[in-house]
Amino acid sequence: MAPVVRNLMILSGLLVSAVGVAAQATPPSPPTAQGLHSLFVAAGKLYWGTAIETNNFNDSAYLAIANNRNEFGMYVPENSQKWEEIQPALTDFEFTNPDAVLARARANGQMFRCHTLTWHSQLPAFVANGTWTRDTLAAVIVAHITNVMTHYRGLCYAWDVVNEALNDNGTFRNSVFFRTLGTDFIPLSFAAASRADPSARLYYNDFNLETSPRKAAAAVRIVQLVQAANIPIHGLGFQAHFRVGQTPNRTSLIATQNLFTTLGLEVAFSELDIAHLSLPPNSTSIQRQSDDYVTVVSACLAVPKCVGITLWQFTDKYSWIPSTFPGLGDACLYTSNFTKKPAYSAVSSFLQSVVATAAPAQGTGRFANGTGSKTVTPMVVAAPATATGVMTLPADIAGELAPFVTSPPVRTSAGAVVIVGKRKGVLVGVVVMVGALLL
Ligand code: XIL
Repeated sequence: MAPVVRNLMILSGLLVSAVGVAAQATPPSPPTAQGLHSLFVAAGKLYWGTAIETNNFNDSAYLAIANNRNEFGMYVPENSQKWEEIQPALTDFEFTNPDAVLARARANGQMFRCHTLTWHSQLPAFVANGTWTRDTLAAVIVAHITNVMTHYRGLCYAWDVVNEALNDNGTFRNSVFFRTLGTDFIPLSFAAASRADPSARLYYNDFNLETSPRKAAAAVRIVQLVQAANIPIHGLGFQAHFRVGQTPNRTSLIATQNLFTTLGLEVAFSELDIAHLSLPPNSTSIQRQSDDYVTVVSACLAVPKCVGITLWQFTDKYSWIPSTFPGLGDACLYTSNFTKKPAYSAVSSFLQSVVATAAPAQGTGRFANGTGSKTVTPMVVAAPATATGVMTLPADIAGELAPFVTSPPVRTSAGAVVIVGKRKGVLVGVVVMVGALLL
């Protein structure tokens, strides 16, 4: 990253109510510097999360980390919402385990991401081996989605509605769904999901989109297929199961995200892990793993519509990698003994430096006073040396805001700068996201 361009910031305001401004303006609280979720939020993102499962719940050392909301602001059940577990037979729905994951997330004040509905893998025998017509399989898919999503209505930030529909060469995977319904199973799934829980963000989720342009292009066509049918699709999940030294570079990761943000979608890295190719890793590959993790984090920060990152487990103790890809491993940020690896420290240091400089720009500039509003054109200016705590705005921005401001701007724990003031006796507010462009 070039230091020169890093020292840029974008100023933009988000429309806020006077009440909201008053609530956020006191007291000034600098960003908390501990924990990857806290840091990621301070840098402007929604969550830093982890996959977790009920069979992890009897491990107190594990839970001491997982329950820490500064580290993880979001949980996703690693397996228990998959079709074979949640609906093992046509009339048998098993919600106990995913409900327990949800309960723990809620107790901790964490978000809940839900995974997954229409997927060729981990299917119950009655689906995988059934004899289907278009109508009977469509009915079974819709019933599955409707029952499961209704159970979690209003509780999932997002659902991975369709998972891994594509081969790496961009053709459709030869699943029971594709064989029976062609591509119709995709809009059909999103339509059922939208009806069952209109509040959930609906995602298409897949792997190797980041490394295969043909697969990414095919995923674009999937999004367009759903959009052309006027059916909601809100997000694209990049699984981000990477290999040390083979992780795409930052420019490439940004370009891949933007294939989908230009279609109006948000994006997320939904299952991040970065596996060593040989074990034990040497010092070079340990350093490279750190660099690769930072690359992914940096690429998400660079795309305003990248909402978050989910680790596919945070400790090697429970990583799926060694059993699925024999010989590979040590893919997580913590060792099996729960010590933080250099990759954890690298991500933490990187985020701390981002937060200390500024957070990524979000939104468009606008502030309002109840009787009217003023649009502020986002401005790119030289960043002050420090951008935490009470800050003095550069002269050109201060001049723009001067008629509105009666108190010094304060930085909130969420990374926003809040300015409050009165104009013609009316409380006026502006939330300003101050961002570093990390090019
Ligand atoms: C994996 C789990 O981590 C394993 O425990 C399980 O045995 C197989 O599935 N893509 C996905 C995830 O969408 O659901 C997969 O999770 C990993 C690949």
